[in-house]
Amino acid sequence: MAKKGVTLLLFLVLVVAAEAHQLQDGEPTAVGHAGRRGEAAAPTHLHFYFHDTVSGKSPTAVRVVEPPAASSSSPLSMFGMVNVMDDPLTEGPEKDSDPVGRAQGLYMASDQATVGFLQAMNLVLTSGPYNGSTLALLGRNCPLDAVRELPVVGGTGAFRFARGYALLRTHWLDFRTGDATVEYDVYVMH
Ligand SMILES: *[C@@H]1O[C@H](CO)[C@@H](O)[C@H](O)[C@H]1NC(C)=O
Repeated sequence: MAKKGVTLLLFLVLVVAAEAHQLQDGEPTAVGHAGRRGEAAAPTHLHFYFHDTVSGKSPTAVRVVEPPAASSSSPLSMFGMVNVMDDPLTEGPEKDSDPVGRAQGLYMASDQATVGFLQAMNLVLTSGPYNGSTLALLGRNCPLDAVRELPVVGGTGAFRFARGYALLRTHWLDFRTGDATVEYDVYVMH
Protein backbone atom coordinates (compact mmCIF):
# COMPACT_ATOMS: atom_id res chain seq x y z
CA MET A 1 0.00 0.00 0.00
CA ALA A 2 2.74 2.39 1.07
CA LYS A 3 4.74 1.48 -2.00
CA LYS A 4 1.75 2.26 -4.25
CA GLY A 5 1.42 5.68 -2.56
CA VAL A 6 5.07 6.48 -3.21
CA THR A 7 4.72 5.43 -6.86
CA LEU A 8 1.66 7.67 -7.31
CA LEU A 9 3.46 10.59 -5.65
CA LEU A 10 6.49 10.08 -7.89
CA PHE A 11 4.19 10.02 -10.93
CA LEU A 12 2.56 13.30 -9.91
CA VAL A 13 5.95 14.93 -9.32
CA LEU A 14 7.07 13.88 -12.81
CA VAL A 15 3.88 15.27 -14.41
CA VAL A 16 4.26 18.61 -12.63
CA ALA A 17 7.97 18.75 -13.54
CA ALA A 18 7.17 18.03 -17.18
CA GLU A 19 4.56 20.80 -17.26
CA ALA A 20 6.94 23.29 -15.65
CA HIS A 21 9.55 22.38 -18.25
CA GLN A 22 7.05 22.96 -21.06
CA LEU A 23 6.24 26.42 -19.70
CA GLN A 24 9.94 27.28 -19.62
CA ASP A 25 10.36 26.07 -23.18
CA GLY A 26 7.48 28.29 -24.29
CA GLU A 27 8.95 31.45 -22.84
CA PRO A 28 11.71 32.28 -25.35
CA THR A 29 9.23 32.01 -28.21
CA ALA A 30 6.82 34.38 -26.53
CA VAL A 31 9.58 36.95 -25.95
CA GLY A 32 11.20 36.40 -29.36
CA HIS A 33 12.99 39.22 -31.08
CA ALA A 34 11.28 41.87 -28.99
CA GLY A 35 13.08 40.54 -25.92
CA ARG A 36 16.44 40.51 -27.63
CA ARG A 37 16.18 44.03 -28.97
CA GLY A 38 14.17 45.41 -26.09
CA GLU A 39 11.56 46.92 -28.38
CA ALA A 40 8.45 45.93 -30.27
CA ALA A 41 9.30 43.47 -33.04
CA ALA A 42 8.59 44.96 -36.44
CA PRO A 43 10.10 43.45 -39.56
CA THR A 44 11.94 45.62 -42.07
CA HIS A 45 9.91 45.80 -45.27
CA LEU A 46 11.77 46.10 -48.58
CA HIS A 47 9.89 46.69 -51.82
CA PHE A 48 11.44 46.61 -55.30
CA TYR A 49 11.20 45.09 -58.77
CA PHE A 50 13.32 42.28 -60.20
CA HIS A 51 14.05 42.13 -63.93
CA ASP A 52 14.87 38.71 -65.38
CA THR A 53 16.06 39.12 -68.98
CA VAL A 54 16.82 35.85 -70.74
CA SER A 55 16.51 37.08 -74.35
CA GLY A 56 18.41 39.55 -76.54
CA LYS A 57 22.07 40.56 -76.78
CA SER A 58 22.69 41.24 -73.09
CA PRO A 59 20.68 38.79 -71.00
CA THR A 60 21.05 39.03 -67.21
CA ALA A 61 20.04 35.38 -66.76
CA VAL A 62 21.78 32.64 -68.78
CA ARG A 63 20.86 29.01 -69.37
CA VAL A 64 23.80 26.93 -68.10
CA VAL A 65 22.03 23.57 -68.26
CA GLU A 66 19.38 22.68 -70.85
CA PRO A 67 16.59 20.37 -69.69
CA PRO A 68 17.49 16.85 -70.88
CA ALA A 69 15.44 15.86 -73.95
CA ALA A 70 14.85 12.34 -72.65
CA SER A 71 12.75 12.89 -69.58
CA SER A 72 9.51 11.41 -68.33
CA SER A 73 8.46 14.75 -66.87
CA SER A 74 5.91 17.13 -68.37
CA PRO A 75 7.56 19.15 -71.18
CA LEU A 76 6.17 22.29 -69.54
CA SER A 77 8.20 21.71 -66.39
CA MET A 78 11.65 22.06 -68.08
CA PHE A 79 12.84 19.62 -65.39
CA GLY A 80 16.63 19.75 -65.07
CA MET A 81 17.12 23.27 -66.45
CA VAL A 82 19.52 25.58 -64.61
CA ASN A 83 19.73 29.35 -65.13
CA VAL A 84 22.29 31.61 -63.49
CA MET A 85 21.26 35.21 -62.96
CA ASP A 86 22.68 38.58 -62.09
CA ASP A 87 19.38 40.43 -62.35
CA PRO A 88 18.94 44.15 -61.64
CA LEU A 89 16.62 45.24 -58.83
CA THR A 90 14.97 48.63 -59.23
CA GLU A 91 12.79 50.90 -57.15
CA GLY A 92 9.97 51.06 -59.70
CA PRO A 93 8.59 48.61 -62.26
CA GLU A 94 10.46 50.19 -65.20
CA LYS A 95 13.88 48.74 -66.01
CA ASP A 96 15.42 52.24 -66.11
CA SER A 97 14.02 53.27 -62.72
CA ASP A 98 16.53 53.82 -59.86
CA PRO A 99 18.69 50.74 -59.19
CA VAL A 100 18.58 49.34 -55.64
CA GLY A 101 20.63 46.16 -56.05
CA ARG A 102 21.16 42.85 -57.83
CA ALA A 103 19.71 39.35 -57.46
CA GLN A 104 22.62 36.95 -57.92
CA GLY A 105 22.21 33.19 -57.93
CA LEU A 106 20.36 30.48 -59.77
CA TYR A 107 17.00 28.96 -60.45
CA MET A 108 16.70 25.32 -61.29
CA ALA A 109 13.62 23.50 -62.62
CA SER A 110 13.16 20.84 -59.97
CA ASP A 111 9.49 19.87 -60.30
CA GLN A 112 8.62 17.12 -62.79
CA ALA A 113 4.92 17.94 -63.00
CA THR A 114 4.84 21.73 -63.32
CA VAL A 115 7.10 24.78 -63.63
CA GLY A 116 8.65 24.80 -60.16
CA PHE A 117 12.08 26.20 -59.42
CA LEU A 118 14.49 25.81 -56.59
CA GLN A 119 15.71 29.41 -56.36
CA ALA A 120 18.90 30.19 -54.43
CA MET A 121 20.14 33.76 -54.50
CA ASN A 122 21.71 36.70 -52.75
CA LEU A 123 19.96 40.05 -52.88
CA VAL A 124 22.90 42.45 -52.99
CA LEU A 125 21.70 45.91 -52.02
CA THR A 126 23.57 48.84 -53.57
CA SER A 127 21.68 51.93 -52.42
CA GLY A 128 19.81 53.40 -49.50
CA PRO A 129 20.27 52.56 -45.81
CA TYR A 130 21.11 48.91 -46.59
CA ASN A 131 23.75 49.65 -49.25
CA GLY A 132 26.46 46.98 -48.92
CA SER A 133 24.25 44.49 -47.06
CA THR A 134 22.96 41.24 -48.53
CA LEU A 135 20.06 38.86 -47.95
CA ALA A 136 20.23 35.15 -48.72
CA LEU A 137 17.04 33.56 -50.08
CA LEU A 138 16.41 29.89 -50.71
CA GLY A 139 13.06 28.44 -51.64
CA ARG A 140 10.50 27.16 -54.10
CA ASN A 141 9.35 29.47 -56.87
CA CYS A 142 6.50 28.43 -59.17
CA PRO A 143 6.55 31.41 -61.55
CA LEU A 144 3.03 30.78 -62.86
CA ASP A 145 1.48 31.14 -59.38
CA ALA A 146 0.01 34.55 -58.52
CA VAL A 147 2.04 34.83 -55.30
CA ARG A 148 5.15 32.86 -54.36
CA GLU A 149 6.78 32.83 -50.93
CA LEU A 150 10.52 32.35 -50.49
CA PRO A 151 12.24 32.09 -47.11
CA VAL A 152 14.96 34.57 -46.19
CA VAL A 153 17.53 32.31 -44.55
CA GLY A 154 20.21 34.81 -43.58
CA GLY A 155 22.07 37.97 -44.42
CA THR A 156 25.17 40.09 -43.99
CA GLY A 157 25.96 43.62 -42.84
CA ALA A 158 22.79 45.25 -41.51
CA PHE A 159 21.07 41.92 -42.08
CA ARG A 160 23.22 39.68 -39.87
CA PHE A 161 21.00 37.04 -38.22
CA ALA A 162 18.25 37.86 -40.74
CA ARG A 163 15.17 35.65 -40.92
CA GLY A 164 12.08 36.40 -42.94
CA TYR A 165 10.21 35.85 -46.13
CA ALA A 166 9.72 37.35 -49.56
CA LEU A 167 6.46 37.54 -51.51
CA LEU A 168 6.89 37.51 -55.29
CA ARG A 169 4.24 38.66 -57.77
CA THR A 170 4.77 38.70 -61.52
CA HIS A 171 4.35 42.25 -62.76
CA TRP A 172 5.03 41.53 -66.41
CA LEU A 173 5.85 38.38 -68.38
CA ASP A 174 6.65 37.88 -72.06
CA PHE A 175 5.54 34.30 -72.74
CA ARG A 176 7.42 34.28 -76.05
CA THR A 177 10.89 35.07 -74.64
CA GLY A 178 10.45 34.28 -70.94
CA ASP A 179 11.59 37.78 -69.91
CA ALA A 180 9.83 38.91 -66.74
CA THR A 181 9.53 41.66 -64.18
CA VAL A 182 8.62 40.52 -60.68
CA GLU A 183 7.49 42.64 -57.74
CA TYR A 184 9.22 41.74 -54.45
CA ASP A 185 7.96 42.42 -50.93
CA VAL A 186 10.59 41.25 -48.44
CA TYR A 187 9.94 41.18 -44.69
CA VAL A 188 13.00 40.66 -42.49
CA MET A 189 13.73 40.39 -38.79
CA HIS A 190 17.38 41.19 -38.09
C1 LIG B 1 26.92 52.33 -51.90
O1 LIG B 1 28.12 52.08 -51.22
C2 LIG B 1 29.28 52.13 -52.06
C3 LIG B 1 30.46 51.66 -51.23
O2 LIG B 1 30.54 52.35 -50.02
C4 LIG B 1 29.44 53.53 -52.60
O3 LIG B 1 30.58 53.59 -53.44
C5 LIG B 1 28.20 53.89 -53.38
O4 LIG B 1 28.26 55.22 -53.83
C6 LIG B 1 26.95 53.70 -52.54
N1 LIG B 1 25.79 53.85 -53.41
C7 LIG B 1 24.78 54.67 -53.12
C8 LIG B 1 23.73 54.77 -54.18
O5 LIG B 1 24.71 55.29 -52.09
